[in-house]
Amino acid sequence: MGTKQLETVDPEVAGLCRREAERQASCLTLIASENHSSPAVREAVASLLTDKYAEGYPGRRYYGGCEVGDEVERLARNRAKELFGAETANVQPHSGTQANLAAYLAVMEPGDCLLGMSLNAGGHLSHGYERNHTGRLFRAVHYGLDESTGRIDYGEVERLAKEHRPKVLVGGGSSYPRLIDWERLRAIADEVGAYLMADIAHPAGLIAGKALPSPVGIADLVTMTTHKTLRGPRGGMILSNKTLVKKVNSSVFPGGQGGPFLHAIAGKAVAFGEALRPEFRDYAARVVSNACRLGTELEARGYDLVTGGTDTHCLLVDLRPKDLSGKEAESRLLEVGIVVNKNLIPGDPRPAMETSGLRLGTPAVTTRGMKEGEMAVLADLIDRTLTGEDREGVAARVRELAEAFPLP
Ligand SMILES: Cc1ncc(COP(=O)(O)O)c(C=O)c1O
Repeated sequence: MGTKQLETVDPEVAGLCRREAERQASCLTLIASENHSSPAVREAVASLLTDKYAEGYPGRRYYGGCEVGDEVERLARNRAKELFGAETANVQPHSGTQANLAAYLAVMEPGDCLLGMSLNAGGHLSHGYERNHTGRLFRAVHYGLDESTGRIDYGEVERLAKEHRPKVLVGGGSSYPRLIDWERLRAIADEVGAYLMADIAHPAGLIAGKALPSPVGIADLVTMTTHKTLRGPRGGMILSNKTLVKKVNSSVFPGGQGGPFLHAIAGKAVAFGEALRPEFRDYAARVVSNACRLGTELEARGYDLVTGGTDTHCLLVDLRPKDLSGKEAESRLLEVGIVVNKNLIPGDPRPAMETSGLRLGTPAVTTRGMKEGEMAVLADLIDRTLTGEDREGVAARVRELAEAFPLP
């Protein structure tokens, strides 16, 4: 069903879809967890595969008529394995959170101990936050960040691991701008006999594009989302090894999910195919160089960056020297068409709905073709917005940039 059908059958929803497309095209997205998928990915996601039930795995389904679905899922799995150099891949998780829950339950029982980064330090809800199912099911213990450096304090991770003897040690977060020392986490996990799980939801595309070191082959379980830096459809994935594959697969289905979303799996296959092309390596490298440049340009304008910069796609700006909350900064930037999100900083004195920080990320603007020169322009526009200078002029410049760098 094309857009024309939607216009005729349901003009209300068609109008909303159009408005969202216009919003994305006319604004600049600096939300670190978002990206713009390709038209090919979106075509696959909008395909008739959405109508097909395929509970089970290729060759062992609970429904007839899965021949094509089997090929789609095998293709996605094989491309994922090639892309990440992994022994096995489960492409069925509907989201990153579902992938994490399934990965935990592949190797843990309810009541077992889980050690991960705290939500306030930039960990994810699914790393054992008390109101998340993972926090209700498992005995979650959390490590924070060193408040003076903003970096992971591996000594604290080791101390907590020895004290609590977790079954799973989780590395990865939602706003950590630095490399994670996977070998160090592996050594800590080994000391206490824990499984190591790498949640690479954010940097998956940068790892696939060889811009960052990979935890594959170091961690026992690698979970991710497919829609952030990896630039695919909304979804999740779990990489593991031949020893754990059966447990992972049965934890995803029948453990936590019913029928797989074959349309989303087709979209994942397309995205993995795109990420296997040499251009994607250039993209991944540029996401990182753009983030570094945006950071240095902001620093030159008097902004403080948590950890003093970035190794990845994201920056965490400490707004305290500017006497501005993250909430206020987010809403001022939205008014001029720059979309960002407020974020807690290490030891933040403000609550999570207000915050003293902003998280900025370059995956989406890099997909639109922006390079380091545009990062300098963006830093200037951000600064002028936050200092309250010439709001209309800034908004007009944002619209010009959005037109000059269209969505894919
Ligand atoms: C580190 C991390 N893990 C897991 C997730 C969960 O992904 P989803 O929103 O697809 O459930 C996110 C999402 O932001 C994340 O940042």
